Amino acid sequence: MSSEVIRLTSDNTDVIVRCAPDAEILYWGPTLRGFSPQDVIAIQRPVPNGRLDVDTPLTLAMEYGRGQFGAPGIEGHRNGYHAAPIFNTVSVESDDHALTLVSEDALAGLTLTSELRLHPRTGVLQVRHTLKNLSSDAWQLDRLAVTLPVPERADEVMAFHGRWLREFQPHRVPLRHGGYLQESRRGRSSHEYFPAMVVGESGFTEQRGAVWGVHLGWSGNHRLRADVKTDGRRVVQAEALYLPGEMRLAQGESCATPWVYAACGTAGLNSMSQQYHDFLRKEIIRFPDDKARPVHLNTWEGIYFDHDPDYIMQMATQAAELGVERFIIDDGWFRGRDHDQAGLGDWYLDEKKYPQGLMPVIEHVKQLGMEFGIWVEPEMINPDSDLFRAHPDWLLQLPGYSQPTGRYQYVLDLSNPDVFAYLLERLNWLLGEHPIDYVKWDMNRELVQPGHAGKLAVDAQTHQFYRLLDALRERFPQVEFESCASGGGRIDYEVLKRTHRFWTSDNNDALERQAIQRGMSYFFPPEVMGQHIGHYRCHATHRKHTIEFRGLTALFGHMGIELDPVRADDEERAGYKRYVSLHKQLRPLLHSGTTWRVDMPDDTVQVTGVVSRDRSQAVFLMAQLKMPDYTLAGNLRFPGLDPDARYRVRLLDSQQIKTVREGGGSMRELPPWLRHPIDASGDWLMQAGLALPVVVPESALLIELTKI
Ligand code: DGJ
Repeated sequence: MSSEVIRLTSDNTDVIVRCAPDAEILYWGPTLRGFSPQDVIAIQRPVPNGRLDVDTPLTLAMEYGRGQFGAPGIEGHRNGYHAAPIFNTVSVESDDHALTLVSEDALAGLTLTSELRLHPRTGVLQVRHTLKNLSSDAWQLDRLAVTLPVPERADEVMAFHGRWLREFQPHRVPLRHGGYLQESRRGRSSHEYFPAMVVGESGFTEQRGAVWGVHLGWSGNHRLRADVKTDGRRVVQAEALYLPGEMRLAQGESCATPWVYAACGTAGLNSMSQQYHDFLRKEIIRFPDDKARPVHLNTWEGIYFDHDPDYIMQMATQAAELGVERFIIDDGWFRGRDHDQAGLGDWYLDEKKYPQGLMPVIEHVKQLGMEFGIWVEPEMINPDSDLFRAHPDWLLQLPGYSQPTGRYQYVLDLSNPDVFAYLLERLNWLLGEHPIDYVKWDMNRELVQPGHAGKLAVDAQTHQFYRLLDALRERFPQVEFESCASGGGRIDYEVLKRTHRFWTSDNNDALERQAIQRGMSYFFPPEVMGQHIGHYRCHATHRKHTIEFRGLTALFGHMGIELDPVRADDEERAGYKRYVSLHKQLRPLLHSGTTWRVDMPDDTVQVTGVVSRDRSQAVFLMAQLKMPDYTLAGNLRFPGLDPDARYRVRLLDSQQIKTVREGGGSMRELPPWLRHPIDASGDWLMQAGLALPVVVPESALLIELTKI
């Protein structure tokens, strides 16, 4: 086979791969204006003195056996044999946007199929490997990772840490020597380490610097790393994390990695996110009938387990008056579920709470013109449940050991066909017997000693979770699903193929939400981000926020309300109504436009905007998070506008902003545009900007720009 060089190309990104004798990505960056395969000679490496006498390519398989000393792309063995395979290319199929490469190690009896797809419009690169065992003895697979080389100038990592109530917190580490590693063994994408990272030119910001992002589309255990080799070359790696013994390939069996989604941007994090958002909109997100995202009211923080159908109907009546379009009954509707210590697994209606069944509530909700949704947590079981009493052996567990409960619950073994059939039958009953439009699918604990038939089985559990959702989606194609796991514990692109919304966080505190939602926005567009106006005094933090700050913070996502509207006072209710209506007015823009996070000189201010595709309309939200660093807030230079157009700029919403004379405290004079709309050229607004007012901490204002 010749050393074929293949170019994958797209509107903004090129990937150049040398395919033989082994496969190596030579370039992953902006689309090249001119390229000929001979050009690659320019980057042929010298062989340095003092180490191996040959060049060591950063192959797709990143084989240890080739003299790569960092984390290999493949690890495993056949009873200790065939433990350092080397893959050579045997076939290549490609077009301008896709490449499938088969390589093999005949001695080790293994073939590796590598698939690369470059999305022609958005430039998002998808990669996965499939390893197949050809020999009669089983091959024990310990690791199978997708490895992508990044340029030497990518010397800073941004990744995410978090916890329950505090998801998607970015942190940075220099990538100068050694590496950065993150792992999750919790059986879900996790609050702690969202399976993604960005590497880039040091100091990269929202609007500046080249960046390369990777996301592993996988809802189970995972491992991501970024490494600098001692020769200065850099790689990022992403993989499903296999527990000991989980992945044993008998003859003819194969294992495929999850898809890795990679995007590079030259103009800071925005340029990367915009590619991901576009890609998701074009390829992954599917809303039935392309319907606009209905505004929710979710009962959880309003009534918790205290379900009384008459009262719930009053809540629904109030919700409809506020403009809510989908009403969701959360946890507490099924047998024995009076608190969080009992009932999970018994997916039968609690007839004590609902003596007339669910239908009167559903009919009431529908008569009010709203959709109806309901909460479930199918993977879980409480020890205090009829299901557990009948089938204690249905747990995901290792025999002979006891495991801790989490939120008083255990996990069901979805690989057990009886468990799977039971859940399918119960969910079938729920969705088949009731006109339910929406399911909030929760998952509130991590997996510990997760065994099936005596062996660890998180990978299998993750696949079975997908299978269960797939079976339901096939039967009920109009039903939408939300992925929730104590808030944002299960958020990734693979689960998004099967769901329509994420419950971003159990923390509805507007200040905390500003950070959490920004973190999530690096990889997800607004329309899949569940964002709710919570109670005046936040249940998670006990902090109090104005309706304006809460309303504006929930505005850009898939909006909802999470409280009891019956008990709210008139002023609060008027506020909910105002923000629901503002959201509906802006929804077409927010859910289709381009998201911009703006670099601000003072990081106590966070500015996020959405600009319509044709740049005729935009809204930017200024959120003052803390006490400003400076006495002036500076000028906001709007990105993404049309420099040749003129725009009318106006304050669309905020809490009352007053001068000292009028009873305010932070300004003697307001910038004029706050009182009356102004007109200015796009270029001026992009280059010189708009003077921001000085506002109090934990407040926000919304600016609208309309082309004239
Ligand atoms: C955790 C979820 O994140 C909440 O929104 C709520 O649905 C509770 N579970 C119900 O138990």
